[in-house]
Amino acid sequence: MFPTTRPRRLRQTSQLRRMVRETVLTPDDLIYPLFAVPGEGIASEVKSMPGVFQLSVDKIVQEAKEVYDLGIPSIILFGIPEDKDTDATGAWHDCGIVQKAATAVKEAVPDLIVIADTCLCEYTNHGHCGYLEVGDLSGRVLNDPTLELLKKTAVSQAKAGADIIAPSGMMDGFVTTIRQALDEAGFEDTPILSYAAKYASAYYGPFRDAADSTPQFGDRRTYQMDPANAREALKEVELDIAEGADMLMVKPALSYMDIIWRVKEITNLPVAAYNVSGEYSMIKAAALNGWIDEQRVTLETLISFKRAGADLILTYHAKDAARWLQEQA
Ligand code: PBG
Ligand code: ZN
Repeated sequence: MFPTTRPRRLRQTSQLRRMVRETVLTPDDLIYPLFAVPGEGIASEVKSMPGVFQLSVDKIVQEAKEVYDLGIPSIILFGIPEDKDTDATGAWHDCGIVQKAATAVKEAVPDLIVIADTCLCEYTNHGHCGYLEVGDLSGRVLNDPTLELLKKTAVSQAKAGADIIAPSGMMDGFVTTIRQALDEAGFEDTPILSYAAKYASAYYGPFRDAADSTPQFGDRRTYQMDPANAREALKEVELDIAEGADMLMVKPALSYMDIIWRVKEITNLPVAAYNVSGEYSMIKAAALNGWIDEQRVTLETLISFKRAGADLILTYHAKDAARWLQEQA
């Protein structure tokens, strides 16, 4: 009776394969990162990220319209300020670059969801994600004083129109603190997307060119997680759930699919995966060399994040992916 079970029966035609497909990727799943810079009419390509640009606010607005028309529901904003200082003033100032961009986008495309990345490394003159002890060259960010800056940053982003606050600095207690600050300022309905499990990763290299946020000394290993640890990610996630996070993120994505899976198993909150800059650049570089099929490799990568448990994917491929998905539909 060999073989009664033939899995190939259900793979014979594209219609059959569609019927039994377990996972789908749609533009609804995607969040597109944008980098705002001061000035006007500026679109300067990031060298290590072909197809990704630092954009002035007027160009961000154009881009936001395009993103919305492609059916992508959301963007996440990062900012490159005019000036950097020890207090990260550009992060929390009401006239900060992310605040300006958020207001302009919400005015032009009200239905596009604007997420604000809430961190300080783009705005400090040393490139770390918070306050340092004066004279400290190790990069050990002072946790509790930094929370004060994050509160101010989150509230001013919400005031500027940001729909979702996404703290990314891996400070202990940042969800509690930001939740309280938002509530006190009347933003009790503004959700928090916590970068709950964020690893100290070399895959952030190209982003730091894009966001001009490379630490001037030391590294981020005293606040971001050790890539060797998985149970610790679950601890971070449990804490953020207890602190009131509305959504959780795992970052990076490609080398951390086991973490995405394990996080999904312990929570019913939406789980986001950040397909980070280095992951994007590797595909781009290989594609530009003609070594891989960019469209197929990209869509395969993105569907794998969903298969691993991600409900949402932050990705620089979002516009391309949405276009390809439209063409396939
Ligand atoms: C800043 C921040 C980083 C990224 C998002 N927010 C970089 C870092 O921690 O150095 C990385 C995103 C990417 O690589 O695409 N806290
Ligand atoms: Zn940071």
